[in-house]
Amino acid sequence: MEKREELYRGKAKSVYTTDDADRLILLFRNDTSAFDGKRIEQLDRKGMVNNKFNAFIMQKLEEAGIPTQFDKLLGDNECLVKKLEMIPVECVVRNYAAGSLVKRLGIEEGTKLNPYTFELFLKDDAKGDPFINESHVVAFGWGTAEQLVRMKELSLKVNEVLSKLFDDAGLLLVDFKLEFGVFHGQIVLGDEFSPDGCRLWDKETRKKMDKDRFRQGLGDVIEAYEEVAKRLGVPL
Ligand code: TMP
Ligand code: ASP
Repeated sequence: MEKREELYRGKAKSVYTTDDADRLILLFRNDTSAFDGKRIEQLDRKGMVNNKFNAFIMQKLEEAGIPTQFDKLLGDNECLVKKLEMIPVECVVRNYAAGSLVKRLGIEEGTKLNPYTFELFLKDDAKGDPFINESHVVAFGWGTAEQLVRMKELSLKVNEVLSKLFDDAGLLLVDFKLEFGVFHGQIVLGDEFSPDGCRLWDKETRKKMDKDRFRQGLGDVIEAYEEVAKRLGVPL
């Protein structure tokens, strides 16, 4: 598949068109951002680790019947994906309290949420990715009520599949963010699943093994990502 021109440059990935109008190439860069892009640093090996991590997770989700954008790995930092029309909404599922939930509601970090929670955020860095609800999505035309039903259904299925996968690797899936798009009329999971977009804690020690190490200046960011990959059996 031939890479043509850069279609879009995100904070951590670049998107290229290909000679197939239905396919794109994602390039995972080493850029690591936090606080809506206000802090960006280069971390060695991050692009490669996240690309391979994402490929592994997307394949597991496909096996579980979840339609994803992922087609195949093309190299250390690139993969081939379906070209989706993205819905500018971030779906967040939480199993334990952390991050903005702790800040917003004053819940103690690590509190088990029973049942899980499901939240929506508008994907808009300039506005600070604001918290929104389903009526905003429909009223402002970001998605339809039917699409929202499917996005929630798929998000909860992802939670079921990945909570088990990480649990078997001695990790708690604390929370995660998903983005969806439309491919030939169907809602499909897009973007990436990597330690950049979820929280993972060691089950015994509750050590943070995800991008909070970067956000909170805890160090050994990529070492933690590699440890997670090793425990899951992701070939790096
Ligand atoms: P939050 O606690 O900051 O709302 O984040 C919830 C989860 O979503 C956490 O795993 C990080 C992820 N996330 C992203 O990947 N990108 C984002 O822009 C935001 C706001 C959250
Ligand atoms: N992905 C967002 C950013 O780069 C938020 C975050 O992960 O903290 O700013």
